Amino acid sequence: MKKQKGADSIRKQLLRWLLIPIASLCLVSAIISYIIAINITTEAYDAALLEGARELANRLQVNHGQIVLDLPPSALAIFKEDKVDKYYYVVFDDLGRLIGGDSEILPTVDRLHGQRINGDSRFFNREVNKTNVRIVCMRTAVPGQNNRNATIYLAETVLKRQGLINEILGAVVLPQLCLISLATLAVWFGVARGLAPLEGVRQAIARRTQWDLRPVTEVVRAPIEIQPLVSAIDDLLRRLNEDIESQHRFVANAAHQLRTPLAGLKTQIELAQRADNKAELSNFLKQVNHSVDNVTRLVNQLLSLAKLEPASAWFVPQSEFDLNQVIKEATSDLVPSAVNKNIDLGFEGCNEPAIIKGDVSSIRELVTNLIDNAIRYTQPGGKVTVKLAVNNNAEDLSRNQHVIDLLVEDDGPGIPAAEREKVFERFYRVLGNNVPGSGLGLAIVKEIVQAHDAKIWIDCGEAGKGTVASVRFPASSAK
Ligand SMILES: Nc1ncnc2c1ncn2[C@@H]1O[C@H](COP(=O)(O)OP(=O)(O)OP(=O)(O)O)[C@@H](O)[C@H]1O
Ligand SMILES: [Mg+2]
Repeated sequence: MKKQKGADSIRKQLLRWLLIPIASLCLVSAIISYIIAINITTEAYDAALLEGARELANRLQVNHGQIVLDLPPSALAIFKEDKVDKYYYVVFDDLGRLIGGDSEILPTVDRLHGQRINGDSRFFNREVNKTNVRIVCMRTAVPGQNNRNATIYLAETVLKRQGLINEILGAVVLPQLCLISLATLAVWFGVARGLAPLEGVRQAIARRTQWDLRPVTEVVRAPIEIQPLVSAIDDLLRRLNEDIESQHRFVANAAHQLRTPLAGLKTQIELAQRADNKAELSNFLKQVNHSVDNVTRLVNQLLSLAKLEPASAWFVPQSEFDLNQVIKEATSDLVPSAVNKNIDLGFEGCNEPAIIKGDVSSIRELVTNLIDNAIRYTQPGGKVTVKLAVNNNAEDLSRNQHVIDLLVEDDGPGIPAAEREKVFERFYRVLGNNVPGSGLGLAIVKEIVQAHDAKIWIDCGEAGKGTVASVRFPASSAK
């Protein structure tokens, strides 16, 4: 199966629409959780660190006027034997002299000396030995000596804090990652499952031969969501079917129409071959000539129809031209036939230019067919008038466009109202007249009319007599 270039996948679209919002939500919630986790951890561990500093403060004494730190190993072990974090401390007396502690922390503490401390204590985030530490600085009175003060710095590495933050974050983020993974899996497999019925429809269509144009709904039950698609396919198949049937009918009719005159032609030629004298031969040849004319006309009509098929590339509206000129010429060409039948053929053009866009030769064929019909079906001594008018007030003026009306009127027998639509069908002829013809003239006219975006209809003449064929063309430019 060939993939269409640029086609998007439903699966990808769903994933995009689902995952982007979920992932954004997870990210925001992870950030918020991280901030909350830092706050909770800092509060809890800072309290413990301050407690540690107070423990140290309790060990301060004044000995011979000097402040000293009485820290037995058992008390020191409380800090130093922590399995995860390392502790450092230093203590200074009120004169800023070092009383005791760890030398590693001294460079860091030196830089903190100038910092202001509001209240008893203050916390800092610094580094000792290139490791992050949290330091509490506490100013305290020596127990029992209200006039002697000391400053204690106690630092702890932040491994336990970091561990707790990670745990809190993990507890929030991990379930969200599971949710995203599950949603991805659900979409991935859900789409495949949801679209499985489409595969049934595809197979039902792929299995068909080109002659099987039954509606798809007859053979497969489509899910509700894709029923509009299947209905559209069915509709297309129905129209295709109608089109193919009409093509078949047309070919069968055309074959029939051609076979009959060709068989007659062959008979005439055989008779001519057996002619006894020159006069008889000449008579037969005249008939042959007449038959060849008829067959030629029929073949030309069939070619015209083929050329005018909407799917054919032959007919392309080409130029803008004045209908006055084309119709005048077509009418003049038919004057001899009218004169032969003693018919008064007249043309009433319009004073202004009647410009349309289209194919000149097709329009000439249209007018010729209409006038030819009027002359053929009107009794000798009748009257045929061709009129052209630019209509600026037509009621159905759509797209703000003027229209041009072409009327071909005769005072012949007319076409019964019930037949006025049918005469446009291919090979349709009204029974009851002896005029020869194949019933293609108006079908060709109709195709030309449609190719020019025009309309055609047939009425009876004034006083209910005769025929009026009206064609309404859109004028080429709005005036
Ligand atoms: N002006 C008219 N007056 C009376 N009947 C007409 C007129 N124009 C057409 N018809 C009727 O409509 C039918 C169809 O006309 P159409 O031009 O399609 O075919 P045709 O004239 O019979 O054959 P051809 O293909 O040679 O033109 C004609 O057979 C005729 O009965
Ligand atoms: Mg005709």
